[in-house]
Amino acid sequence: MPSLRDFARGQLARTAQQSLTRTVRETERLGRTRVRRGGQDYVSFSCNDYLGLTHHPEVIAAARAALERYGTGAAASRLVTGSHPLYAELERLLAELKGTEAARVFGSGYLANLGVIPALVGKNDLVLADRLCHACMYDGARLSGATLLRFAHNDLEHCRELLEEHRARFERCLILTETVFSMDGDRGPVEDLMGPARAWDAWLMTDDAHGLGTCPAIAADVQMGTLSKAVGSYGGYVCGSSELIAWLDNRARSLLFATGLPPASVAAATAALRIIRADPELRQKPLEHARRFTTALGRPPAASPIVPVIVGEAERALAASAMLERHGLLVVAIRPPSVPPGTARLRFTFSALHEPEPIERAAALLKEQGYA
Ligand SMILES: Cc1ncc(COP(=O)(O)O)c(C=O)c1O
Repeated sequence: MPSLRDFARGQLARTAQQSLTRTVRETERLGRTRVRRGGQDYVSFSCNDYLGLTHHPEVIAAARAALERYGTGAAASRLVTGSHPLYAELERLLAELKGTEAARVFGSGYLANLGVIPALVGKNDLVLADRLCHACMYDGARLSGATLLRFAHNDLEHCRELLEEHRARFERCLILTETVFSMDGDRGPVEDLMGPARAWDAWLMTDDAHGLGTCPAIAADVQMGTLSKAVGSYGGYVCGSSELIAWLDNRARSLLFATGLPPASVAAATAALRIIRADPELRQKPLEHARRFTTALGRPPAASPIVPVIVGEAERALAASAMLERHGLLVVAIRPPSVPPGTARLRFTFSALHEPEPIERAAALLKEQGYA
């Protein structure tokens, strides 16, 4: 066996050969859409703060008040130390926004998927997942021990075929999709999947991480999401029936065995959700900005605040990202395994706070340089 250092060196060399090295780069958010990296200022298109709420004065004030009053940390799992009173209002607002009976907040969206899926299905069960579902939905499905089959992206027919061929061999069945796909920005056919789900006696679970606050909520048996994107805080959530939530309290290991959120994060998320609820104009802006970009590129209108510019190989995505960086625009290159091989891309995310000029400049540069 090599030393651990040699092992890591060998793995890194292989990753570098494929232009797939990832590095954590220090980047300071300056507020609105500006960031500072390596002494240079940029406009960032790689941030999921869709509504600019991370820096909203009311959100900051709520977090500050909770911090002063309740301290920095939760100190234990909500089931061990007791649930902080601040959660009640947050969960009430989440359930209201989603039109469900109840909601439960987890430590993060990732933890929610890791906890919920294994609480619903196990080794005698079937999970059918859209091929492009987020890594944490797949990780939750794998952890559950259920048989996991993937259907082609947004392909209802393929989902139906898999149900027809396999459903009868299993006890329970869970279908997984996203409301807004994180790397492609298209919407999942949630309403249409309800039909096959009911016809084949399956439950439908959606990941709304990129939908909450920017796209209308669509009903499903289980709706999970995150508080770290449009909500501008941290944490994950699950919305559904009160029985579902009570069952998760008993069985979702990532809820039972992980410390609760810092009170300031809970308070910030609550303040942000109130703003989201009260301001439909704000909720529409990220999509408007995404559409300004797709129009400038001569493409069909964006379906969400996420717009991919697919360029093919990883090296080409890195070159496109470097080109924009030289012009003061920060857009991360997304490469395999985050996306399928041959579909490396620049992933643009649009915020309510973006100005028109850098949006149009980015589109013009991509066209000029032959990337779009
Ligand atoms: C679709 C999707 N689901 C879940 C998550 C995980 O959420 P969190 O960051 O709160 O762990 C993310 C990204 O972070 C995501 O893009």
